[in-house]
Amino acid sequence: MITEKNAKIVTALPGPKSKELAERKDKCVPPGIGIAFDIYAAEAKDALIKDVDGNVFIDVAAAIGVQNAGHCDEEVVAAIKEQAEKLIHPCFQVVPYEAYIDLAEKLIEITPGSYEKTVYFANSGAEAVENAVKVARRFTGKQGIISLEAAFHGRTYMAMGLTSKVKPYKYGMGPFPGELYKIPSPYCYRCPMGGTYPGCGLACVERLAYLLKSEYCEDNIAAVIAEPVQGEGGFIIPPKDYLKTLHTICKEHNILLIADEVQTGFCRTGKMFACEGFEVEPDIMTLSKSIAAGMPISAVVGRKEVMAGPQKGEIGGTYGGNPLACVASLRTIKKMQELKLDERAAKLGNMILTKVNAMKDKYSVIGDVRGIGAMAAVEFVKDRETKEPNKEIISKITKYAYHKGVLIISAGLLGNIIRFLPPLVMTEDQMNYVLEVFEEAVANA
Ligand SMILES: Cc1ncc(COP(=O)(O)O)c(C=O)c1O
Repeated sequence: MITEKNAKIVTALPGPKSKELAERKDKCVPPGIGIAFDIYAAEAKDALIKDVDGNVFIDVAAAIGVQNAGHCDEEVVAAIKEQAEKLIHPCFQVVPYEAYIDLAEKLIEITPGSYEKTVYFANSGAEAVENAVKVARRFTGKQGIISLEAAFHGRTYMAMGLTSKVKPYKYGMGPFPGELYKIPSPYCYRCPMGGTYPGCGLACVERLAYLLKSEYCEDNIAAVIAEPVQGEGGFIIPPKDYLKTLHTICKEHNILLIADEVQTGFCRTGKMFACEGFEVEPDIMTLSKSIAAGMPISAVVGRKEVMAGPQKGEIGGTYGGNPLACVASLRTIKKMQELKLDERAAKLGNMILTKVNAMKDKYSVIGDVRGIGAMAAVEFVKDRETKEPNKEIISKITKYAYHKGVLIISAGLLGNIIRFLPPLVMTEDQMNYVLEVFEEAVANA
């Protein structure tokens, strides 16, 4: 059990037991599985992770956005245990069960869109993306899918095709599926169209309208898929009216909008779903990560008529909507609502932005600070004028923080961004410590 309330480092890092595990890992796990920190987790609770040597770390990565509701909530654990005693997996497509329906109903209730919706489950974010594309193509009878530059949608072939950042995600692994197209990202700090908002008139999204005439035809575009806030791409927060304008253009051309809320969903941005903040009701949503506090499950939620495109047996999979994951998800969502984790996200985000904005005057390497809810990023540059990315500083910062017991990770196409993605149950004391260490790390770098 973790009794500590804050970070506590008790050995040299990594400790002896972690070192031993690393040696074993190197012999049995291929090098392509990249690992951020060389400590091995023994247990975790809320925003803390204890390693096998007894060191306690504050987790600012939340398993890359999986632990919004915190690690190992007692009731989530109890729900999984209770379910495991009764029914582990009969496969919904063979013998269905109630937990699947309970969760589908819950997601219909809490996702944006007052229209009739249906839901089905898969196992990972990438799998949800694959399924959303299948549904969109099957319903519309069209093939083309448009994604955004700087997007990340996962590591399966369709998801890779929709993703940017060739190295490391796609390098040497092509060819990718056909009929995939890209439009510019609403990356205002480094506008791909060379504009400045709002004077730009959202040229990045207007590009879609232009390309629909010049490069591809609406008759062959089934859907646009977009993360409401781009995650891996560098926490790229679009202008307030971006998503709505994108959706309007989609509707004008009979194209579906798929919102990939795998990383932005479940209170992360200060709303249950980021689309709510942008006042958009997408046709299809993909959900995963914080949906079930670490149990592997994802969901495709969409308009009833769109979701009815695929016929019997055309979608599904052996494990989708496993009962243990369904009950874990129901309890996780209940906790988010009871503890108002959406409001908590806004509070934590505010603490981060206040601190880092105040640091801007002191440290010229800080190029941009941006955040929405508790999804905040600091973009480092060598020169504020040229905005030359400062990639080198990132590993110095993360390494310093690690040695102080703070696990914080990078993001961004250019590898020059530190992202804050804390569990939303992180205490104020813990967040104050994280921010103190972050400033020391920047000063030190
Ligand atoms: C927006 C988004 N979509 C899809 C994925 C892929 O999820 P998974 O790794 O569970 O396949 C991710 C993962 O980071 C993501 O951030």
